[in-house]
Amino acid sequence: MRLAERMNFLGGEGMGDVLTQVQQRRARGERVIPMHAGEPDFDTPTDIVEAAVAALRGGQTHYTPAAGIPALRQAIAEEISKTRRITVSPDQVVVAPGVKPLIFFTMAALCQPGDDVICPDPAYPFYASLANFVGAKAVSLPLTMDTGFSIDFALLEDLVTPNTRLVVVNSPSNPTGAILTRGELEALGDIVLKHDLWILSDEIYSRLVYEDSFESIASVPGMSERTVLIDGFSKTYAMTGWRLGYSVTPRELTPHITKLVLNTLSCSVAFTQPAAVEALRGSQEPVHRMIETFRRRRDRLVSGINRIPGLACLKPRGAFYAFTKVSGVDKPSLELARYLLTEAGVAVYPGAAFGSQGEGFLRLSFACSEADIDEGLERIAGALARL
Ligand SMILES: Cc1ncc(COP(=O)(O)O)c(C=O)c1O
Repeated sequence: MRLAERMNFLGGEGMGDVLTQVQQRRARGERVIPMHAGEPDFDTPTDIVEAAVAALRGGQTHYTPAAGIPALRQAIAEEISKTRRITVSPDQVVVAPGVKPLIFFTMAALCQPGDDVICPDPAYPFYASLANFVGAKAVSLPLTMDTGFSIDFALLEDLVTPNTRLVVVNSPSNPTGAILTRGELEALGDIVLKHDLWILSDEIYSRLVYEDSFESIASVPGMSERTVLIDGFSKTYAMTGWRLGYSVTPRELTPHITKLVLNTLSCSVAFTQPAAVEALRGSQEPVHRMIETFRRRRDRLVSGINRIPGLACLKPRGAFYAFTKVSGVDKPSLELARYLLTEAGVAVYPGAAFGSQGEGFLRLSFACSEADIDEGLERIAGALARL
């Protein structure tokens, strides 16, 4: 079969490999400790479910406007205005089935062959994958553990060329849990303004923060005009399977993102959209409870990891992953993750799935119970000792 050449640029296999193996093992009835999980292990809050059921019963089963129903765009504009301390109007908002299509649409709308897209490394792998897919070139911005996986701004400036079009930011970060401080966001803003660049700010973990408060690059003066801010419902409201995200862009870009939705998806699922309004406007108590549970698990996981010889991680300040350095093991991270799955029944993601800088690391998720964390760590320690 002759496939289009661009298919060679789609990545993400490092994560797909683990997922497939986990599914196969579970289908055979084997127990797998899910320390690879990329989604909250909580149920969607009941009021949100009820709002979707009411919408279904009320006949909201038809196409909606491509950019989303007005009530949801309004609720999102209010939420972002409040939480990011910027003024957003509903005509800057586009709703889509998840953050992921919006990452794609941003790249498709802004980048073309000849453009460079600077992507943090390690990072969620689909930024680089989709930048390359649309014909641009992903350029890796290495982040290191000794700087807390923060941005090295001198290095970033070195990577900027006349071809640089877009810089991707993901704070709090998957997989490192790092959060950019106000000072770092301002330093980034200076570079973006100086070189006339755009920012894609993936803020999907904005509510899952444990130490300091989260700030958006869009709140730095001059930056909301050149930032595509993307957030969604998957993580904050435990709604991964609902597929709902949104972008907030400068007004001139909104029709183009909307056109991409119209050409590919038509719109987001009708009865999920009133439920998303309920998510934003209803009680935030379930979200607060989830965050407190994640904080307890994080502390347990981090101290457990740092007690195992050969493993070390920093305390993630946000998201729900501990990016763990592995020393003294003579195996690439992909092989080590396979070994832990087959020998110990623990699923983790190999650091290399998040970029070349992730080699030598494993991503351990705390979106699993405290009992799973304890058992998973015990099994990992045993399996490492047998190597
Ligand atoms: C950084 C990051 N962005 C985007 C997504 C995908 O979000 P969604 O489920 O809204 O497509 C994930 C999911 O793991 C993520 O970690």
